[in-house]
Amino acid sequence: MTAYQTLRQQLLAQPRKWLVTGVAGFIGSNLLESLLKLDQQVVGLDNFITGHQHNLDQVQAAVSPQQWARFQMITGDIRDVEVCRQASAGVNYVLHQAALGSVPRSVEDPITTNACNISGFLNMLVAARDAGVERFVYAASSSTYGDHPALPKVEDAIGRPLSPYAVTKLVNELYADVFGRTYGMATVGLRYFNIFGPRQDPAGAYAAVIPKWIAAMIAGESVRINGDGETSRDFCYVANAVQANLLAATVTDTDAIGQVYNVAVGDRTTLNEVCESMRAALAPKFPHLADFKPSYGDFRVGDVRHSQADVSKAKRLLGYAPSHRIADGLQESLAWYVSQLS
Ligand SMILES: NC(=O)c1ccc[n+]([C@@H]2O[C@H](COP(=O)([O-])OP(=O)(O)OC[C@H]3O[C@@H](n4cnc5c(N)ncnc54)[C@H](O)[C@@H]3O)[C@@H](O)[C@H]2O)c1
Repeated sequence: MTAYQTLRQQLLAQPRKWLVTGVAGFIGSNLLESLLKLDQQVVGLDNFITGHQHNLDQVQAAVSPQQWARFQMITGDIRDVEVCRQASAGVNYVLHQAALGSVPRSVEDPITTNACNISGFLNMLVAARDAGVERFVYAASSSTYGDHPALPKVEDAIGRPLSPYAVTKLVNELYADVFGRTYGMATVGLRYFNIFGPRQDPAGAYAAVIPKWIAAMIAGESVRINGDGETSRDFCYVANAVQANLLAATVTDTDAIGQVYNVAVGDRTTLNEVCESMRAALAPKFPHLADFKPSYGDFRVGDVRHSQADVSKAKRLLGYAPSHRIADGLQESLAWYVSQLS
């Protein structure tokens, strides 16, 4: 049995109370669904700045009425410390996902990104500390590797941040580390590498490539790749990120606490490859994709060229064992987007 299977049995037998911030977003709503399906009690916090009520509605539809009754939603902003205190009261574990994602958004509006991702993060740390939570798990980011050239990325070798967003995620790690050493807080940072899956928003100027391209392909619109398409990423299905969060929240090995971990698969896939696999998978259902070709534009400011994770630290210390490689995740995601969008 894997560490995750064992953990799921333990949680079912002995439910705990979790706070998921950013619960109406992509990763947050997937965490919510998994936790409710394990009969956990969940408090959710979100201001809906990029999250959606329809994500919560879908979770409600996917769980039983008894499971949904264990969910308490707080609509509020992490920039308000009193809201963070209210949400943290009586909670065992915090899974802090609320932040403004997107490198280009941070390039255009660094002030709002800073306020949500740094001031909001600090508010959550203080509130969780004062509420005496057992573990504070937070969404860090692969953007922290910045301009460090090494591949695959290993946790202790980071470069200079390449965007305001990357600065905020690095500062999160610095604050979490200091709160561990200053107040004895048990934190774990998860450096997500391009997470994708159901409920990732395909709309808007800052959408991630996989949902944006799937939506464009289904609608018969053009797909524009920034650069030559040979930019590569370690695309990671959201079920792997959920697994990493639950393991990080409950791990008891003291060596594993106060650490940051890569959350990815350990593979590297180019944008051209992702685009072509999605086209090929959708073409039987959407004949207009038979001879579809993407167009190419300029490289985007602040983007790193290649990204691939070494996930051995998470495997060793958390018992992380990714359940989905990119092809498995794409298959599940495509089925979901087709059901939603076509
Ligand atoms: N998706 C990825 O590939 C990826 C990669 C690296 C890191 N991350 C991090 O993971 C976390 C979740 O990302 P996601 O992809 O689910 O994004 P998302 O935009 O779908 O979810 C973020 C949620 O946080 C909420 N939020 C933002 N600011 C808030 C505030 N001030 N107060 C309350 N709620 C607020 C939003 O409304 C949204 O529901 C973020 O911290 C993001 O930086 C994501």
